[in-house]
Amino acid sequence: MKLPKTQVAVLEAASADEPEDIDELAAQLSEKPETVTGAAFALEAEGLLSVTESADTDVSLTEEGRRYAQGGLPEVRLYQAALEARADEHPVSMGEVLGAANLDGEAVDIALSNFARKGYGEIDSGELTADSEAAPVEDVEAQALQAVAGGEPIDEAVRDSLESRNLVETTERTKRAVTLTDAGVTELMAGVEATERVDRLTPEHLSSGDWTDVSFADYNVEADADAPTPGKRHILRQAAKRVKEVLVGMGFDEMEGPHVDADFWINDCLFMPQDHPARTHWDRFALESPSKIDELPEDLVERVERAHREGVGENGDGYHSPWNREFAAELALRGHTTSLSARYLSGEQAGELEPPQRFFSVEKAYRNDTLDATHLLEFFQIEGWVMGEDLTVRDLMGTFTEFYSHFGITDLRFKPTYNPYTEPSFELFGRHPKTDELIEIGNSGIFRPEMLDPLGVEGDVMAWGLALERLLMLITGFEDIRDVHGTLADLEFLRGVEVEY
Ligand code: PHE
Repeated sequence: MKLPKTQVAVLEAASADEPEDIDELAAQLSEKPETVTGAAFALEAEGLLSVTESADTDVSLTEEGRRYAQGGLPEVRLYQAALEARADEHPVSMGEVLGAANLDGEAVDIALSNFARKGYGEIDSGELTADSEAAPVEDVEAQALQAVAGGEPIDEAVRDSLESRNLVETTERTKRAVTLTDAGVTELMAGVEATERVDRLTPEHLSSGDWTDVSFADYNVEADADAPTPGKRHILRQAAKRVKEVLVGMGFDEMEGPHVDADFWINDCLFMPQDHPARTHWDRFALESPSKIDELPEDLVERVERAHREGVGENGDGYHSPWNREFAAELALRGHTTSLSARYLSGEQAGELEPPQRFFSVEKAYRNDTLDATHLLEFFQIEGWVMGEDLTVRDLMGTFTEFYSHFGITDLRFKPTYNPYTEPSFELFGRHPKTDELIEIGNSGIFRPEMLDPLGVEGDVMAWGLALERLLMLITGFEDIRDVHGTLADLEFLRGVEVEY
């Protein structure tokens, strides 16, 4: 029988009595494991070999693990230093032993907690005693670290404890072994010869006519292959793009404008009193240099100031709060993209706008929030507004119902709330697909005349700010914003995200 060269080699190296590990065969034959695996599958298809699979765990040292494998586990070093300081005879000051063991920073906590856990001694009010009976030479973790460093297998229990200390990393993989079948033995005895097998057709094969003699390798579409992790658009950017497409489809135009803006545009134009708590340094990222905007439209400044001080309309409705121009000129990272809406509504950005109008943006906003599963220092806000005649809350609800339905989200809840610049106002909630909890996904309302009058807007304006990250949570079911943003990002999740096309 004639077979390709590697298949002949694999067949000859395999045994009928004992499974041969494919990785070892590959090393023996100086071939790549995937080449040998391919040959083994081909032989299996011919009935000459059987391939068995088992799950295997590869264990390797982390950076920290490598350091300890070389320099010793912190708790062992602490114990040795303690013995040298005679802490087995009397308590010794902890600082002294730590210094002698050359431990500092994070290693101190690690050393102390494991020292106590492993019963190397006791620590009491800053003093340390060592148990002379303890035997760190036999420390199973230390021995296992050495074993991993030397490429030897280790016991599952120690592996778990080293893994929980982040000293080793494990990866699961499939291990394969081959055994000769009876048919394989028979063929081998009858004699197998190697043919020229090629994996691609070349111009030379054609011109020489060799293509009629060579045998072509089959594609093994089930062979293991490295999972490619090519660069691709981040899932949040993908979602931003989809949101833009949906809003454009709903007849909206896109707004653009600065990330750093004057408080005037971020807050004053929205009828946010200057002494409002959200305007303190606690919540905003102020700019130090430059700290003020160069120019503001003076007539608009005047109208806004009057609205803040004296109110708007016949009865002078409003907060009648103090107002300072310098304060309004201060620059900060925008805390919401409603600053863009203020610029557009005032006519400053795109000229005077007559109703009907629809505008949106999907841009970053920045807040000095406490980081948690649903808050970051920056997020993408889906800002939008509609200018028209006689708009009501039903129009706003209908717009949201339509918008979210494009993402398969149909269970929306609305809750009345308060914003200085809208009346009525409501928050939006959606149900998390995994936890089933209602999470806040946006805030909205109808802009008050006290805001619109000074901006020179005639007609009604309904508006909103929705969080893109929260929308994405509802779509994909991830539970922590930090999975998609920043240093704690879940790379597996990000890599697994579908590629757009
Ligand atoms: N600016 C609000 C926020 O950041 C969102 C909003 C925009 C609310 C427009 C009402 C109207 O939460």
